[in-house]
Parts: sequence; structure tokens; C-alpha cells
Amino acid sequence: MIKVACFDTKSYDKEWFDRKNNGEFQIKYYENKLNADTAKLAHGCQAVIAFVNDSIDKETIEELYQLGIKVIAMRCAGYNNIDFKEAYQKIAVVRVPGYSPHAVAEHAMALLLCLNRKIHRAYIRTRDYNFSLKGLIGFDLYKKTIGVVGTGKIGQVFIDICKGFGMRVLAYDLYPDHSKDIEYVSLETLFSESDVISLHCPLTEESKHMINAETLKLMKQDAVIINTSRGALIDSEALLVALKEERIAGAGLDVYEEESDLFFEDNSGTIPKDDVLSLLVGLPNVIITSHQGFLTNEALSNIAETTIENLRAYFHDESLINEICYFCLPGGTNPNCRKQKEGRCF
Ligand code: NAI
Repeated sequence: MIKVACFDTKSYDKEWFDRKNNGEFQIKYYENKLNADTAKLAHGCQAVIAFVNDSIDKETIEELYQLGIKVIAMRCAGYNNIDFKEAYQKIAVVRVPGYSPHAVAEHAMALLLCLNRKIHRAYIRTRDYNFSLKGLIGFDLYKKTIGVVGTGKIGQVFIDICKGFGMRVLAYDLYPDHSKDIEYVSLETLFSESDVISLHCPLTEESKHMINAETLKLMKQDAVIINTSRGALIDSEALLVALKEERIAGAGLDVYEEESDLFFEDNSGTIPKDDVLSLLVGLPNVIITSHQGFLTNEALSNIAETTIENLRAYFHDESLINEICYFCLPGGTNPNCRKQKEGRCF
């Protein structure tokens, strides 16, 4: 039986992978995150299953390659934590490009509604029998302008949700989808005209810190930022300064640029080392959730199913529709990738 090492496993991962595994794979579950040190746990395996905060850098890939790992199956859509250049022609990388855009888009709206209507504060207040409304004023979303950065699967679902609220939607995407009824504008216009800005694009060298000290200056003073995409799209220190100086009105963050050692774990009782995060967490107009946008039963079921199917296709020498490589990444030089002609990147 083909042995697979699954890293950064939580109980819900094991539950769904065990349900979807048809007996073809022997999955060894590890709670450890995958990195150059823990890669050894994959000894004897032919594949690994990895997740968003695993560190799949040059050293990790080299270690996995030496162990004879043939394929890395990402159980997520994002892939900014992989050194694709190093993996090329050594280890195939497959992913789950879409498992429930609704899960993430609905979470983005949940963050916005909670933040705007101060549900997080009201919840704590009423539990203490404090029924005061002081400081709880929000604004109607109806007729407000929302700027959506990235109009892929999640962005488009989010746009539909926003339209359901009667909002005016502006969008920016490197590759606009003109087949849809979406009003595309420049990033500068989006930042300066939006009452709410929601990020739904991947983290790349180009998109890193797209919200920074300079772009924050373009925004309205009462603008709210929602990020369910990747933490490093925002320069957190610059965000903190803008919030403290009351140059923007709030932030709902499901992701944080330094999240990898903290998120998904219970760190209660430890002394926080990240001052920026500590200050952000303490602000009344900031809500942080720990990368839980994907966390619905539907998404977990789809993630496990597609990951198992990706592995099955790999070991049955079938085309890998969900493979990505150094050459076919967005912005990569596609002609060098053999996927379209031969069904596999290399
Ligand atoms: P997608 O690939 O369907 O759409 C991404 C869109 O962003 C594409 O239209 C692309 O052209 C655009 N884009 C790429 N670079 C850009 C740039 N520099 N500026 C503006 N637009 C750019 O991806 P999908 O499924 O919609 O996911 C979006 C992101 O959501 C993922 O990259 C991932 O980081 C994040 N995500 C977060 C989850 C969570 O649990 N919080 C779960 C799943 C995804």
C-alpha cells in the first residue's frame, strides 16, 4: 500500500481523510508542521500531505527528495509556502484549487458584519448584563462601496454576497474577468473610493504588502479592511500605525503575516512575543480569527476528497489537473510547462 505522511494534522483532518481514503493509501498522521527538520518523519513514504503554514523551502524539498517522496499534495489552495524552483523536476506539487469558495467568502462577510455592528463587543457586554449601546454604532452596508481585490473563485462569490446586501462593488484583478458583470478599476481608485476593502488574491512577490504605509494613506478614514487571503498582503506594522492614528476604521483579519508559529494552536498561557499582534488583538476595532475561513464541513470534505483524488491520479500515472509548477504559476512562463500537452508539468 502506498504510504503517505500527513503533516500539521488536526482531528478534523484525520476524520475527513479517513472517511475519504478508499483504502488505497496508508496515511501516517503527524501533528508536526512540515519543515526541514520534520521532513524525516516521511521516511518510508512516497507522498506527503501538507498545509498552509508548512515550510516547504529548499532544504525541506531536498530532504523529501532524498527520502524518495514523489509528490507533495497540498490540502489547500494557496501555495506561497513552496519553493517551486527547487521542486521542479524533483517532486510534483498538487493542490486543491477550489474546495468551497463559499466557506471563505462567507467568513469574510461574517468578519465584516461582526466588526461593523460590533457583535464581538456586544457579546462580551451582555454576558456581563451590560446592556448599554455606547460605542456600538455601525453603518448600513446598503449602498456603500466595497473594493474587492482578486476576482477569482472566492472573490466572485464574495462579490455576489455583497451585491445581495445592495452594495456597490469595485474590483481589481491582475487578470480581469470581463465575462462577469464586475466593475474593474485601478488599485488606487479601489483603495480611495471604497468604504470596505476585502482581499481575495494570492500572496506573490508582486502582491506582498499591497496594503502598506503609502496605500493606507489613500484610504478613507472610515474604511474597513477585511483580509481572508494571506497575512503578508498587509504590512501589519503599517496597519497598526494607521489604526492607532485613527486613519482607518477597523480591520477583520483571518490571516496574519507572522501567523505560522501561532495560528491553529492553543497558545493561551504563553507570553506573547509578537508586539504587533498583541496590539492588534487588543484594539476594539480589530477582529482576528485564526485562519478559519476554510473551516466548514463542506470544505473539509472537498479538501480530503480532492487530495485523495490528486494522489490517486499521480500514482495511476494519470493527468494531474491540479498540478502546479515553477513555470505554470501565475506570472510564470507557461510554454515551458508540459502540463497542457502531456498532462503533467514534468
Ligand atoms: P483564485 O486563483 O480563484 O483567484 C485569485 C485571483 O487573484 C485571480 O483572479 C488572480 O488573477 C488574482 N490575482 C493574482 N495576483 C493578483 C494581484 N497581484 N493583484 C490582484 N489580483 C491578483 O483563488 P481563490 O480560490 O479565489 O483564493 C484566493 C485566495 O484566498 C488564495 O490565494 C488564498 O490565499 C486565500 N484562501 C484563504 C483561505 C482561508 O481559510 N482564509 C482558504 C482558501 C484560500
